[in-house]
Amino acid sequence: MGFLEEFVGPATDKFLGLSLRAQIGVGLGGFIFFSVLINVLNQILFKNPNEPPMVFHWFPIIGSTITYGIDPPRWFKQQREKYGDIFTFVLLGKKTTVYLGPAGNEFILNGKIKDVSAEEIYTVLTTPVFGKDVVYDCPNSKLMEQKKFMKIALSTAAFQRYVPIITAEVDDYFKRSADFKGKSGIVNIPKSMAELTIFTASHTLQGSEVRSKFDEKVAALYHDLDMGFSPINFALYWAPLPWNARRDHAQRTVAKIYMDVIKQRRAAGATETEDMMWHLMNSTYKNGTPVPDHEVAHMLIALLMAGQHSSSSTSSWICLWLAARPDVMEALYQEQIEVLGADLPPLTYENLQKLSLNQAVLKETLRLHAPIHSIMRAVKSPMPVPNTRYVIPTNHTLLAASGVSASDPKYFPEPDLWEPTRWDKDSPIAPSSAIQASGEDEEKIDYGYGLVSKGANSPYLPFGAGRHRCIGEQFAGVQLQTITAMLVRKFKFSNPDGTTGKVIGTDYQSLFSRPLEPANIRWEKRDE
Ligand code: HEM
Repeated sequence: MGFLEEFVGPATDKFLGLSLRAQIGVGLGGFIFFSVLINVLNQILFKNPNEPPMVFHWFPIIGSTITYGIDPPRWFKQQREKYGDIFTFVLLGKKTTVYLGPAGNEFILNGKIKDVSAEEIYTVLTTPVFGKDVVYDCPNSKLMEQKKFMKIALSTAAFQRYVPIITAEVDDYFKRSADFKGKSGIVNIPKSMAELTIFTASHTLQGSEVRSKFDEKVAALYHDLDMGFSPINFALYWAPLPWNARRDHAQRTVAKIYMDVIKQRRAAGATETEDMMWHLMNSTYKNGTPVPDHEVAHMLIALLMAGQHSSSSTSSWICLWLAARPDVMEALYQEQIEVLGADLPPLTYENLQKLSLNQAVLKETLRLHAPIHSIMRAVKSPMPVPNTRYVIPTNHTLLAASGVSASDPKYFPEPDLWEPTRWDKDSPIAPSSAIQASGEDEEKIDYGYGLVSKGANSPYLPFGAGRHRCIGEQFAGVQLQTITAMLVRKFKFSNPDGTTGKVIGTDYQSLFSRPLEPANIRWEKRDE
């Protein structure tokens, strides 16, 4: 008897004898089996020596999406042990090449405009939230001009005005908040820090007219806008889903609120408040076109959204570490007494520059908890990787993860220890000399929005590098250092279970990493 009669015939008879449901189940099982088989054979038999090694995965399309998504930094470190600094993995069906370490940061973040594109990756997420014609919904050269307009408004004179506004907001917040009534208590700190960051950012960046609206409806509208930033929207940004409808409604409503304020200001000829809105309203592109009102409104949304997550997550981590290290919180209090005087005068921009431990707390927190764990770029033309045989093809996405080198023992002794004093030059665990040397004397370059360090070749880049580098670094510094200094004056924090030196884990489910919740701390008011 031939093969067909012996096996296929009876098997077909058996299959046809099954119920329809069972037939579908068998068919599906077979399909999955063969796709896994082809996917595995493909990885084993067709390795391309001119492309980085592929992280082994069983299922096509899903690839390593799940293992990556649970804890990206830990996963990157595991893959680095197997494959080295450069490797490719499948993220939702897309080949994604990760290049770790300072050389990788330089290759990706300082990639040339003809080779890499940020807008191609991010526009689906950001344009419905920010609005048309700004940031990633315009050519890169226009973004560079927009960043220049925004950066000019973030001047030292502006920061000098902002510090008293922020201190007043902090004072007011703790007087009003139901979570901080009485002498002591336990609070889920990320919720409070999210509120405090949006109140301080909206008041400083957008003025008191807009800030006054935050107590009413604008906070809820920003919450709806925020839903547009969930990672699922990389795929479903277009879908007629309830959260997308709320996102679109919120975008139109918030933009209209800003445009109404702009119109009122223009009608009144108001020139006395030289705030961000004023600067943007009075800016002109190189081709002579004044910035249209809808672009001013959309840039204001973008600025608030860009800063909100990173700053609110960072301030939560600062609080959590101060609770885990009450000795550091006490040292910060003593620093203020020694440097500013026992009467603790009102904080000023100049005073903040003198509080070196206060600054180091922010630096150290960003080293371990950079809010953006993965920075992505589309590849526009094949990119040879220097000193290797690899060429990254245009169907790959590039991914930089500078947080990985920021916790690498090669550069930071005892990397997992949160220790702000490591930033003292004489500390036994000071960062490697390469990092200490980077800074002022480095070569600078202007991409169109002011001078930034030319090299991205550093293991510590919480604010990114290159043409897409953050313009909010100084603002975030002023905001977060003022909040920290104020918290230290008002409270003593500790872990609710009395332990020290440990904080809660990280939630990587949203685009910006943040503490897992509830992230409780115990607070106790200092004697007034
Ligand atoms: C870009 C981090 C606060 C506005 C970036 C990038 C990083 C970053 C890593 C580069 C993204 C990329 O290359 O794709 C942070 C951190 C912050 C912070 C850690 C706080 C702790 C802020 C604030 C603002 C802001 C407060 C606004 C006032 C921007 C803008 C860009 C940017 C406009 C440019 C995007 C581009 O050119 O593509 N930020 N940021 N950021 N950030 Fe920030």
